[in-house]
Amino acid sequence: MARSNDELEQFAYVVTHDLKESLSAINSFVQLLKKYCDHQLDDRADELILHVITGISRMQMLTDDLLTYTQVNANQTFTEVDCERLLGNVLTDLSIIVSECNAIITHDRLSVARGTPFQFIQLLTNLINDALKFQRAQPSKIHIGVKESFCEWILSVTDNGIGIGEQYLERIFRVSQRLHSRREYAGTGIGLAICKKVVEYHGGRIWIQSEPNVGSAAYFTIPKFN
Ligand SMILES: Nc1ncnc2c1ncn2[C@@H]1O[C@H](COP(=O)(O)OP(=O)(O)O)[C@@H](O)[C@H]1O
Ligand SMILES: [Mg+2]
Repeated sequence: MARSNDELEQFAYVVTHDLKESLSAINSFVQLLKKYCDHQLDDRADELILHVITGISRMQMLTDDLLTYTQVNANQTFTEVDCERLLGNVLTDLSIIVSECNAIITHDRLSVARGTPFQFIQLLTNLINDALKFQRAQPSKIHIGVKESFCEWILSVTDNGIGIGEQYLERIFRVSQRLHSRREYAGTGIGLAICKKVVEYHGGRIWIQSEPNVGSAAYFTIPKFN
């Protein structure tokens, strides 16, 4: 079972990787087409080219997320991660969208945990991005909290956003499960699946508590003795 899972994961990785390369080539050609045909085509043709470009950029987002997803279990070495510093970097990277969303982000002081820094960055970035994206009240208030038990850290990302109905709280962790159309909220529906895989790779659990029209809180645990 474990072996066939590994093989499936390897297969998904190779296919996604090849798809990404082909997409990149198609993208270069269509960009050239756009450049060389500038002002030579009618409006309808220009519009069609733009649709192709939008489609490609969406497929690039998808292949990027799928690559990340299939790579989580690929031999990544654990080190001591200063999560307070790592969160600081994540918040700096998100600072433009935080101010565009008119959001106020506060956080407890995080500790040092054992894990893979790159995956912790993806985990926190995904959860904070969702808290920013599914906003409701202005200003959006987001808090990153931490509690501690004997054997684990329990981290949380809490928002005052649109919330999630109880019946969806499990389903949203599956690949491609989204509750809204792309027109309402952009995204691939892979973010929470990546978060779940990352947390489980570190030996923890992840879950969301939420109330529609009040807000959501995503919790995850990281064992202290990894
Ligand atoms: N903080 C949140 N508030 C409200 N809904 C959320 C939140 N986080 C996730 N969701 C719901 O879960 C779905 C899956 O999330 P995710 O896997 O990150 O995909 P994406 O962000 O690409 O839509 C989202 O489309 C949304 O419907
Ligand atoms: Mg997301």
